[in-house]
Amino acid sequence: MKTIKQTDYSGISGLQITDQPEPKLTPMTALVQVKYTPVLPYDILTEEGKLKNIRPVKLPIAVGYGFTGIVTAVGALRSASLVGQAVLGASPTGAAQEVIANMMPPLLFKLPDNVGLDAAATLIGGADAALMTVIELNVTNMDTVLVTGASGGVGSYLIQLLKRRGAHVIAITSPGNIAFAKSLGADEVVDYTKPLARQLSAISQPNKIVDTVGSGTLLNALSTCLGGYDLLSLATQKFPAGKINQTSRFSNASIGLRAYTKLLDLLSTGALQAHIDSIIPFQQIAVAQNHVKNEPVQGRLLLAY
Ligand SMILES: NC(=O)c1ccc[n+]([C@@H]2O[C@H](COP(=O)([O-])OP(=O)(O)OC[C@H]3O[C@@H](n4cnc5c(N)ncnc54)[C@H](OP(=O)(O)O)[C@@H]3O)[C@@H](O)[C@H]2O)c1
Repeated sequence: MKTIKQTDYSGISGLQITDQPEPKLTPMTALVQVKYTPVLPYDILTEEGKLKNIRPVKLPIAVGYGFTGIVTAVGALRSASLVGQAVLGASPTGAAQEVIANMMPPLLFKLPDNVGLDAAATLIGGADAALMTVIELNVTNMDTVLVTGASGGVGSYLIQLLKRRGAHVIAITSPGNIAFAKSLGADEVVDYTKPLARQLSAISQPNKIVDTVGSGTLLNALSTCLGGYDLLSLATQKFPAGKINQTSRFSNASIGLRAYTKLLDLLSTGALQAHIDSIIPFQQIAVAQNHVKNEPVQGRLLLAY
């Protein structure tokens, strides 16, 4: 089977597609034929050596973490009803490979019948981080929340979850994604490619900010132009609060495993929508990661296996 491997810290161009023996079936194994993995900035940052302080890894590693696929076989200690089942899973030893041996039952979630393998693949590293954020910030219908990176794999879920809590939402996005941000539910939109001061003086004053971009330029402009707020960044640990009535902190907290079942239910009932930017064959991992790194996105890119 093919596996996408990171062998050094040279970034996207250093990735290799290697042949590995297929994993063996042990009593605790569920073998999953992988169909989709999400293309995450987390992988790109790991490949560039930028997460060494919060995610130390021993190279070589298979890239990726979340996956969806079909269970093809189970060992004697796993439920036989899993065979043929569509699942969402997490693989701490890497997910970008054609077959995954899941040995940890809590890290495998059955998909509701009406949730596609593609839609479910957007949850890990996207909706989960968005849900963690609304919980950490204790968002209510009294809040006005500004979101940077509103059109991305996290932001596209974050706007929906904030609206579900009744918050007033301001999205910051590139011009090509203004209509997309509005379709997600954003009440007001700021274009980050145009001068910010005039736009920020015209919007409602946010009392909470979620940053999924980590741009010092953007965060400085927000601090200068806005009044008091609590800022939670998923993308930078290096932005101190700029004014006495502003707070700033980083979080990479995780949600409990039961939350994935809740997110799948929300997709199943249509209360949340998955947004898939595009689906690219896994052999084109470099094309996919360069797209995520350098071009505007609408939701999540997926690799297909
Ligand atoms: N801490 C955690 O637990 C956690 C969990 C998940 C993700 N993350 C981090 O959160 C960040 C976002 O993840 P993601 O998956 O949503 O990324 P993504 O899908 O690549 O989205 C990135 C977003 O950033 C926007 N953007 C890019 N350059 C910008 C700039 N110069 N100014 C303003 N906006 C800009 C893009 O907007 P346009 O497309 O409109 O240009 C896009 O909406 C990443 O750094 C990721 O590592 C952290």
